[in-house]
Amino acid sequence: MAADQTTGIAIIGCGYVADSYRQCLSLHADTLRLAGAFDRDPQRLAAYTATWGGRAYASLDEVLADGSCAILLNLTDPESHAAVTQAAIAAGKHVYSEKPLAMTATEAATLRDAARNAGVRLASAPCNLLGESMQTAWAAIRAGTIGKVLLAYAEIDDGMIHRAGYDSWVSRSGKPWPGRGEFETGCTYEHAGYALTVFAALFGPARRVTSFAALLVPDKGTTPPLAHPAPDFSVGCIEYDNGVVVRLTNSIVAPYDHRMRIIGETGTIEIKEPWDYASPVILRRPGQGRIARFIERRLGGGLGKRLPMARRVPFKGGRGKPTMDFLRGPAELAAAIREDRPSRLDEDFAVHVTELTEMLQHPERFDRPALVQSRFAPIEPMDWAR
Ligand SMILES: NC(=O)c1ccc[n+]([C@@H]2O[C@H](COP(=O)([O-])OP(=O)(O)OC[C@H]3O[C@@H](n4cnc5c(N)ncnc54)[C@H](O)[C@@H]3O)[C@@H](O)[C@H]2O)c1
Repeated sequence: MAADQTTGIAIIGCGYVADSYRQCLSLHADTLRLAGAFDRDPQRLAAYTATWGGRAYASLDEVLADGSCAILLNLTDPESHAAVTQAAIAAGKHVYSEKPLAMTATEAATLRDAARNAGVRLASAPCNLLGESMQTAWAAIRAGTIGKVLLAYAEIDDGMIHRAGYDSWVSRSGKPWPGRGEFETGCTYEHAGYALTVFAALFGPARRVTSFAALLVPDKGTTPPLAHPAPDFSVGCIEYDNGVVVRLTNSIVAPYDHRMRIIGETGTIEIKEPWDYASPVILRRPGQGRIARFIERRLGGGLGKRLPMARRVPFKGGRGKPTMDFLRGPAELAAAIREDRPSRLDEDFAVHVTELTEMLQHPERFDRPALVQSRFAPIEPMDWAR
């Protein structure tokens, strides 16, 4: 592709994740061109451009007035997403927003409508659905490898982050990992999208959500204490229009486990890490007969076969390099605009994922919990176990 056919992008919000995006730019040299970056904090902006070079915009208005930038990458903190996206839409820019698209489904739908009225495109992260691992799993499912899909389980337990020494996590341009934001935005808002986007692609729209959320560790040892701690655990069951049922768990309390399992009539597909495009895709068959059942019980799922990847992952992650290509989503949006076709991560898709995310983290906003009426006196352990 000739250089003048690249799409100009601008980064708004030069925080922790902006470095991960920037590290992926060389993978898209043929299609994306970084016009510049902006952060409302001048020191953060200066550190970013000192690390990576490129233009530092003086204001958001300057970005919006720059004709060489077609797509804004909204990498601000979640609470700032809607305002920045709204301003970009009003200025006629396409937007690729980090997740969540907005903090409520209503706000997300308002952004979608504004984008449609303005004739611009809107898409949202995460884009791990476009990664080799997920595409491989999807291809296997489409090919009937596990028969009719019945059920899927996804764990996004991230471990006790507040005890994990996150103060020392620093990005390439020196930005600390925003733990306080993570604790106040909520791990479900931060992480559920990595599973919900994949399930939306695989199963289509959802029709019913039953969820539960709780704040288990209100004091995460921050100074000052958290002003608005969000739920640090949620679990939800989602029923899709096609009949598939999903159980999705999010926490920053239970030990790290990011397993995703898609269960069909004749097999299960398992992906260990949805944050890694190279994560192996494992096929397991249900145990048939006593020996297979014994192995299944002993190995927690039985013997597995690694499926060949749909293609080689075109980069090597790990050792300070992202294991996801963060720019694959913006590249998909740019291609969709160029080719005048819907983007795989389009507005309706992003609004739907935002709605499910809100339902998981805030069940109280959608229906009243069923309160248990019966009670019983506490029981004692066995005498020999005291
Ligand atoms: N931290 C991660 O590992 C990670 C990974 C994947 C996705 N994300 C997502 O990326 C987004 C950003 O996360 P982060 O970790 O980089 O946060 P961060 O707090 O490190 O950075 C956010 C940056 O946005 C800037 N900002 C906020 N409002 C702004 C505005 N109106 N105009 C200009 N700049 C503004 C802030 O000054 C800050 O530098 C979030 O949506 C998060 O969910 C984060």
